[in-house]
Amino acid sequence: MKICIRNICCIGAGYVGGPTMAVIADYCPNIKVAVVDVNKNRIDLWNSKDLDDLPIYEPGLKKIIERCRGKNLFFSTSINEYIESADMVFISVNTPTKKTGIGAGKASDLKWVEASARQVAKFSKGNTIVVEKSTLPVKTAEVIKEILESTDPIQKVKEQKSFHVLSNPEFLAEGSAINDLQKPDRILIGGESKDAIMALHEIYRNWVPEEKILHTNIWSSELAKLTANAFLAQRISSINSIGALCEATGADVREVARAIGSDKRIGSRFLDSGPGFGGSCFKKDILNLVYLSNHFGLPEVANFWESVVSLNNWNQNRLSTLIVKTLFGTVSSKKICILGFSFKANTNDTRDSAALNICKNLLEEGAYLIIHDPKVGSKQIELDLNLKPVIESEDVEYESDPSQYEGKWSYSREVYKACNRADAIVVLTEWEMYSDLNWEIVAKSMRSPAWVFDSRSIVNSKKVLKAKLNFWRVGDGAIQKKR
Ligand code: UDX
Ligand code: UDX
Repeated sequence: MKICIRNICCIGAGYVGGPTMAVIADYCPNIKVAVVDVNKNRIDLWNSKDLDDLPIYEPGLKKIIERCRGKNLFFSTSINEYIESADMVFISVNTPTKKTGIGAGKASDLKWVEASARQVAKFSKGNTIVVEKSTLPVKTAEVIKEILESTDPIQKVKEQKSFHVLSNPEFLAEGSAINDLQKPDRILIGGESKDAIMALHEIYRNWVPEEKILHTNIWSSELAKLTANAFLAQRISSINSIGALCEATGADVREVARAIGSDKRIGSRFLDSGPGFGGSCFKKDILNLVYLSNHFGLPEVANFWESVVSLNNWNQNRLSTLIVKTLFGTVSSKKICILGFSFKANTNDTRDSAALNICKNLLEEGAYLIIHDPKVGSKQIELDLNLKPVIESEDVEYESDPSQYEGKWSYSREVYKACNRADAIVVLTEWEMYSDLNWEIVAKSMRSPAWVFDSRSIVNSKKVLKAKLNFWRVGDGAIQKKR
């Protein structure tokens, strides 16, 4: 029987829930979409008059919010009310790695997913399709189903409750979320009920070509999401391992990547060597895979995937060690300018950012960091580093007693000011603005001998060297040999 969806409720107004629902609302004017969240502050920001105050920065998002908010897209904390009127509920809450207990450090903490399922079980009316949007360990759908089916039987009959569970993983990448949602490579829908699958299928058909919508069983869908992220992360660890080898041998990782990427079997994307992958997904999802593999008695499989994360950790530490070694073995009280704190360009998200580890290492070594990022503010960095910034009003102050600034940091809104009197500049995020700096001006204000470390290969090496700055670029053994 054809199920027609008129009301959608999405639990979780985060990086996934917010943009995904905005795009659905934009393409489906006849469906009322409500995004609900327990976090009132976040919902208030989604509802803010000034669209620059939205809680998430994504290119293209503001325009959609402007078009749909208040018409068929709503942001609210009235979770129960919107669950009650929904034909379809997306669960898009966070699933962080467990910190304590069984599976600590690897398994996902499903307490928010479980809580959401219980809320749906309690407040839904009639037939409800529950869609897993959060990335979840294989077999979570079973848990959700069990919770939904354990609703008080009397209430169930009285309110004619029934449920279908679907898995519909999200493949959007931050920074290009809107484009990824509008032009997806594929949409994956896993489930048992053909009618429920088709109900979700019809929603996507409003803008996604038929052949891009894949139907699978529910476990394949759950596992495909973990596997996609694990494969992508594996490519980054692979290329970063080769980058280190390039630096040692005089090869250039960009040239190697171009050469292997033109082989159609390998492909050219996701071969940028850098400071190591970050973001809320890669590490968490691989560790999840590691946990699952061990759980199902496959330690060799678990070890294989765990090595992808180990190499990433090693790569981040390698960068901070290299900076210390290059600056004559100590960075104590030296001023280091950090360009970029988000885990990639075009997002304000700092979760698991490589910058975080690298900055922590440098602070431990006693460096004084001046951190700049066009979208991440001082408050977020303070939370991430768990360290208050110093207000550096006068550079003279630092000049007169650098030792007072050992292991401290301050925030800068202006790149050129941030570089002033610095011993080194470290580019950690590939924001476009960093690729186009006037290195002559920068060089004049830095303390000699000054260094530029480009961990993202976005800086014009010729211009840096012409400005008489020392230069290090990730994976570039040729430039290292030239010096
Ligand atoms: C998503 C996915 O859901 C996660 O599984 C994936 O691996 C990473 O991306 P994301 O949207 O990035 O999560 O997370 P986040 O920005 O933290 O948003 C989750 C939201 O859910 C938060 O705003 C939080 O307040 C909300 N939430 C959490 C609820 O509304 N109810 C809860 O019970 C728990
Ligand atoms: C990822 C997946 O791409 C997406 O499909 C999934 O839904 C969520 O997880 P995201 O984490 O938002 O998306 O960004 P992504 O572009 O994949 O980058 C992840 C990390 O890898 C970033 O730190 C990025 O800088 C790094 N990266 C990416 C590289 O170091 N080199 C590359 O070539 C590509």
